[in-house]
Amino acid sequence: MNFSWADLQAISENYGDSFYLLDLAKFQANYHDFLAAFQTVYANSQIAYSYKTNYTPRLCQLVQGMGGYAEVVSGMEYGLALRLGVPAERIIFNGPYKQAADVERALLGGSVVNLDAAYELVWIKALAARFPQHIFRVGVRCNFAIATQQRSRFGFDVDSDDFQRVLHALRGIHNCRIVGLHCHFLAPKRSAEAYADIARRMLGLALNECASETLEFIDLGGGFFSRMRLDLQQQFPYPIPTFTAYGQAIAGVFAAAFPSGNGPELILEPGIALTADTMQFVAKIIDVKSIGERHVALAAGSQYDIKPTLSPRNLPMTVVSAAIGSALDRQWQAVDVVGSTCMEGDCLYSAYAGALKADDYVVFDNVGAYTNVLRPPFINPASPILSLDASGACEVIRRRETAEDVFVSYAFD
Ligand SMILES: Cc1ncc(COP(=O)(O)O)c(C=O)c1O
Repeated sequence: MNFSWADLQAISENYGDSFYLLDLAKFQANYHDFLAAFQTVYANSQIAYSYKTNYTPRLCQLVQGMGGYAEVVSGMEYGLALRLGVPAERIIFNGPYKQAADVERALLGGSVVNLDAAYELVWIKALAARFPQHIFRVGVRCNFAIATQQRSRFGFDVDSDDFQRVLHALRGIHNCRIVGLHCHFLAPKRSAEAYADIARRMLGLALNECASETLEFIDLGGGFFSRMRLDLQQQFPYPIPTFTAYGQAIAGVFAAAFPSGNGPELILEPGIALTADTMQFVAKIIDVKSIGERHVALAAGSQYDIKPTLSPRNLPMTVVSAAIGSALDRQWQAVDVVGSTCMEGDCLYSAYAGALKADDYVVFDNVGAYTNVLRPPFINPASPILSLDASGACEVIRRRETAEDVFVSYAFD
């Protein structure tokens, strides 16, 4: 969305000098387009939305309304899905660190739990013995070498005895069913072809290792690129695949293996792909100064608001200028937009070339993934998340956090 300075100033007067803008319609469009890219090639494809990427309840509710699964990795996220009315059978429980009570709640409710390690097996055995009439539905997270420097730490090494042991042990529990295989990799260059290779490998495992089961699903996890502006694309040393390219390559593997369409459900767990371009972060410029050779513009926000992963990339930034052409409108060759914390390295954008002055707003794109969920309560409470409708009316998706929110869990004398 494009905004005038007056638009942003009006929002700022009500909600403070930094805020996120969430585009709910864009999220729905991303969801629809991503799913269509797969379903047009292999109809039995479905999305399990990765809650951790951005568990803003309004987004999770949209997923629920559009028929997707909830992909959760903790009791906290599982509880959120239930609170939002997601039926247990539509929740997929992944993750390396699960707790016994959460696994019990999920399995008894009818969710699929994808095992990451053998410690979970002990609970499943005990639970299955306690509830002999209940059928427990589990998947196994698979790990194999792909062309990355280091092996992933998640799941079972499919070339190891551990993998055979877990399959054998699950088959030995009379009321337990292996209903699917799961994996999640950051594939090299996140390329469509690299994910197609992973899909082929997973289908091979299904065929060779799980011939005795009729698998309901093969879940390939997430990791897919979002849509992004050209200036961000150009910061990657390789091309950014489109949703269509992912669908053609990955679902194409399934369509070729199951030409009559009767194969297992192909589950994708996108997070970034659905969310990244749905949020912008807006911050007012408080001051611009020069120190020696360096020029710095202080923003009312920090790197933790837009890239708490501390990515070195400059996210797309637009300057919305107060009073264009004013005497203060100096053109900088390189000005660093620095953050509100006291960390020396807190920089939202390095070496911006252009006009920038106090009272301007800077608007960052592509901040919808791993931001509000990952931002620490460091020095200042978090900014609000707002959503604007077509008429410009503002809905508060998350209010500005307060000092009380930050300190509520601490003991005071
Ligand atoms: C198991 C699993 N599924 C899905 C995702 C979502 O990944 P992304 O947001 O990169 O699409 C992750 C992210 O770490 C994950 O661990």
